[in-house]
Amino acid sequence: MPVVPSSIPTSAYLDDAVFEAERKAIFGSSWQLVSHVEKLRSAGDRIVVDVVGQSIIVVRGDDGELRAFHNVCPHRGAALLTEEDCARRITCQYHAWGFDLDGALAHVPHESVLGPVNRGTHRLMACQAEEAHGMVFVNLDPAAPSLATTAPWLEDTIREYAPELPSHTHVHRTQSLVKANWKIGIENFSECYHCTVLHKTFVTGIADPGSYRVVDLGTWHRHEASARDGGDTAYNFDTSATSRADEFRVWWMWPNFAMQSYPGGVLHFWTWHPVSADTTLVTVDWYFERAELEPWQEDLIESHAATTFAEDPPVIESIQRSMSSPAYRPGPILVDPDGGPMSEHAVASIHKLWNESMRAEGEQ
Ligand code: FES
Ligand SMILES: [Fe+2]
Repeated sequence: MPVVPSSIPTSAYLDDAVFEAERKAIFGSSWQLVSHVEKLRSAGDRIVVDVVGQSIIVVRGDDGELRAFHNVCPHRGAALLTEEDCARRITCQYHAWGFDLDGALAHVPHESVLGPVNRGTHRLMACQAEEAHGMVFVNLDPAAPSLATTAPWLEDTIREYAPELPSHTHVHRTQSLVKANWKIGIENFSECYHCTVLHKTFVTGIADPGSYRVVDLGTWHRHEASARDGGDTAYNFDTSATSRADEFRVWWMWPNFAMQSYPGGVLHFWTWHPVSADTTLVTVDWYFERAELEPWQEDLIESHAATTFAEDPPVIESIQRSMSSPAYRPGPILVDPDGGPMSEHAVASIHKLWNESMRAEGEQ
């Protein structure tokens, strides 16, 4: 097996200065999943979300368009909104300046006494929002290429695997605050060399580890495996109701988003939200047709939370601790030229993407 050296310096997993540089170079211009469209169906619906440290309002306009704005009032800087609601205007909680749903300043209380306020200068600062078949993403960079351009495969894949997703409802969030850098989390997610060691339920009840492949497609990876056949599945699903009974799939997108389809075609959505250099909020969201779960759906969600989702963090956190040890040296990345199930080539791909992003912003 060829060996590829790790190409991210250890300091990049530990230093606050590198984390701040990543905020700009990576998270300041990448597409971040923020919500399912169920919270943004009607004109005036809005949510307030944290996009890697920035408070962002996402709103459905009167024209049906989704828009995103920094939650920063152009008057004295107060956060405009603190919670989800629905109204025809966005009204600041401080002096009640009112903004139309397209970000234009529409109302200044007592303006006749205080003098006219320039409507062109003082409007909400926009970023980008875009929907991909029911899932809403935000990009902090107003000039970044669209999500459809960045990830042309995404919308079609969601539609193919979960055609009814836009009408589904959020039923469960599996979440863990992991004391480790976000990159350790995605590196771990991107190889299945550890699956037979750490994820016994996964390899005996969900996917056949011998069939596992990770296809490196540049800014995204597709994982493919056959489902475990026979009666040994970790949960029961209706094989007659789906054409996805025999496969396990993952789609990972740079830098911190993934979706996974379990046998039976159950698509669920992952994010690794960087909180600080050594803390990451890992979230998996599940959507079904109805909020009341079928027993097999409950089984699946519970089994996932108790097995694969719970099994990685202790190791990931130990890696973070080790990186501060004088004994730590970045070890080799093992690459099977045939892309076999144990290959770590996708880890090398993540390192390449990280280096390219940081270099592009002059951060290296
Ligand atoms: S800070 Fe928003 S209206 Fe004054
Ligand atoms: Fe894992």
